[in-house]
This record gives sequence, C-alpha cells and structure tokens, in this order.
Amino acid sequence: MATAARRLVPFHLRPPGARPLAAVAAAPHSRKRDAVSCKSTGKTRAKSKAKDSTMWRPQRRELEEHLKRRTRSAGAFDPGLYRRHSHSHHVPVLLGEVLAAFRRPLPLRSFVDCTLGAAGHSLAMMEAHPEMELHVGMDVDPSALEIGQRHIEAFLASRATEEGGEDALQGTLRAYTHVKNFKYIKHVLGGVDENLADGLSGVDGILIDLGMSSMQVNRSDRGFSVLNDGPLDMRMDPKATLTAEDILNSWPELEVGRILRDYGEENNWQSLQRRIVKERKTGGLHSTSELVKLIQRTCTISGGRQGWIKTATRVFQALRIAVNDELQTLEDALHSCFDCLAPDGRLAVISFHSLEDRIVKQTFLELIRGDEADDDDEDLACADIEDEDEPWFKQRVQGTNGTVLTKRPITPSQDEEKLNQRCRSAKLRVIQKA
Ligand SMILES: C[S@@+](CC[C@H](N)C(=O)[O-])C[C@H]1O[C@@H](n2cnc3c(N)ncnc32)[C@H](O)[C@@H]1O
Repeated sequence: MATAARRLVPFHLRPPGARPLAAVAAAPHSRKRDAVSCKSTGKTRAKSKAKDSTMWRPQRRELEEHLKRRTRSAGAFDPGLYRRHSHSHHVPVLLGEVLAAFRRPLPLRSFVDCTLGAAGHSLAMMEAHPEMELHVGMDVDPSALEIGQRHIEAFLASRATEEGGEDALQGTLRAYTHVKNFKYIKHVLGGVDENLADGLSGVDGILIDLGMSSMQVNRSDRGFSVLNDGPLDMRMDPKATLTAEDILNSWPELEVGRILRDYGEENNWQSLQRRIVKERKTGGLHSTSELVKLIQRTCTISGGRQGWIKTATRVFQALRIAVNDELQTLEDALHSCFDCLAPDGRLAVISFHSLEDRIVKQTFLELIRGDEADDDDEDLACADIEDEDEPWFKQRVQGTNGTVLTKRPITPSQDEEKLNQRCRSAKLRVIQKA
C-alpha cells in the first residue's frame, strides 16, 4: 500500500514504514453496534417541533435559536485568531473552540490532524503549542494536502527564522504529511513510530474536521457544488473508483432511493428515485447541472428557489456520503483514533450534519464504556462541571475508558456565524481517554 508520506523537517527517528502495516492494524476495539439510545426528553420533543414545517416561520426560527443558544460556544470570539489562520482556500471552523479543547493535556507533545485541508487548525495548534514535538497531517485529497503542506512549510520556515536559523528548529518539531484516508491512522502512525499506534505511548491530541473545504466546493470539476456545473464526480480521493455518476446511472433503483432517504433525509426521495431511473432510458445523468435541473423539475410543487436548493443540497449530501462511504469510515476511524490516544489524550471531532453528529455522539459513549458494561446509559455518570480552566465544557459523561467532555456539542458563536456562513451547522464534540 503506497503511503505518500512527506516529512517537512529533518528528524532522527526510524523512517516511515519501518513497521509492517498489518501488525499495526490488528489491535481490536470494542464495538457495540446498537449504540446508546437517547432517552426521550423535552429537548428531543422541542427539536422535532423546531423541524415541524407546519409551524409559523418566525416561531420556528425563535425555537431553533433557543435550541442553538444552549450549545453556542461560550468562549470569547477572537477575530485576530481567525484573520491569522483564514485565507482564500478555507476559513477554519470553531477555531477558538478547537484550541480550547486541546488546552489540556499539557504539554501537548504530539498532534494528529486527520483532515489537514489548508492546515488552518494545524497552524493555530502549532502556534498555541510551541512544546509540540510531532505533528502528523493527513488528507485523502492530494490537492488539499499539498496546500496544507505548503502552509506548514511556510510557518515552520518563519518560525525557524524567528528562532535563529533552521538548526534551532531541528529536534523541536517533526512534521509529516500523508495522503491517506483517516481510517488508516494506525498505519500512518505506525510508520512514524510504532509506539504511537499500539496504545503504549500514543498521541496527545487528534482532530477530525469533517466535510469539505472551500477549495473543494469552489472547484466545479470536483462536482461537489450545487450551484456550479461540473462532472458528477464527488470523490474526496481522486483515485477511488466509484463516482456519483456511477450511482445515478447504474445502481439498482431501490439502492438509489435508499441513499436519498437515509443519507439525504429527503422526504421527496421516492419521486426523485423514479425520475433518476427514468432518465436512464434517455442516456442518464452526466453533469451536476443535469441533476440540478431534474431536482428543480421535481420540486416545482413545493416551489421556489429555497425549496429546490434545500432538496439539491440534501441529494448532493446523500451522493457524497455514498461515494466516499463517509459514515462507516467515520465510525471505524473514531475507534482507531481512540486506540491511538495516549492516556489523558483528547480527540475532537467537528461534524456538519446530523448523521455524522449522531455517529460521533453514539460512538463516543461506546468508547468510554468499559467492555464489560451493558449497552445502557445508566452506567455512565453525568456531571455538571464548573472548571475554571475549562468553562466551555459544561457537562461531562464519565465512563471506565474515558470522559466525554461535551455532553452537548459546542456550536459556533453568533460572531463566528456572521463571519463565516458555512460554519452554521458545525458541531464540536470532544472525548478524553482515561
Ligand atoms: C473541512 S476540510 C478541513 C479544513 C482544515 N481543518 C483547515 O483548517 O484548513 C476537510 C478535509 O478533510 C478531508 N477529508 C475528508 N474525508 C477524509 C477522510 N476520510 N480521510 C482523510 N481526509 C478526509 C477533505 O479532503 C478536506 O480537505
């Protein structure tokens, strides 16, 4: 298996790939598929009420805002921090909150960014943690990784100059980048240092920032954008074989319907399924604009730009999830990442839709429960926390194997939303290993 690894500064450890990959991949993890059932609460009822389309619109907006207020970041928004780490490629989401999540454990000697992108989060972490000795950046998309890599190189070079030459930096921070799906984190870390992947020492911090970067959405040739015409591609990994075009033109009709319903949570899935399959008789769908036109025709009854754009966003989401097998990959990766953490190490995940967030929430609870415990919330202790050092983690859930630091996810502040509309659906959850 080719691991396109690139070391960004000289180092003196064993070379990447020194350990057989299979040996690293073997560590089992506990897996309870029928995860935690959330108890039915007033909150759940309020949430479904907020989605109720029969509600008067201002009333619905008010209720949505009330629900959001409960999870909105309480941290002070730092516009300077955002300005320093944002650029045309991408604006990092929940940046201050990610830094807060890794304020412990200290010192943070090793950090893995599973979704490097333009390296916005990574550079802020490097800046905030001068004690960092090892940084590993992964991304399944080589063009995204290349940009992140360039930004890290520039950052390290400027720091070396500040610190008095490259010699001062050597031995301080070893930085690597890997073109790799984050589900292979153990392989990658095993290649850097075998102790990192087998739970003997592990890494202090891991970040997963899901979804796409602006540079991917803005490139019409990737096929991710509802608004720009492009091929029906949607692969995060350009070497992968399955594309959205394959699904639309050759998958069994029922499977097409299933992904629209399950991955897009689209009410209109049956009529879309029928129209997509009917299209095959006249040559099929071959571009995003053809798919959008089909969606617009299907949405004429619900009407309006808002109607078709929302449906198109859901259909594109469904296809992207299926093309990249995003949900299974996420679940597997969360287990692998947790295995790779050092004691007291933290894993933070930013998700962008409810399917992802549900997996993060449920998998975190599975991970902190001991193997011997039943699949039941009752054995997990919830606590309200008043920790002066970490006021943003208001409620925790304690288990045998670790602590979920965010019983409720953290969502962006209103100030951040004003600055970056794309952050609106972001949710941050953090877990700490025992
Ligand atoms: C939202 S962007 C990350 C942005 C980054 N945090 C920053 O501040 O610039 C998400 C990145 O994750 C990458 N990605 C998505 N799925 C992945 C996977 N399974 N494995 C590795 N990278 C993935 C995408 O290619 C994309 O570059």
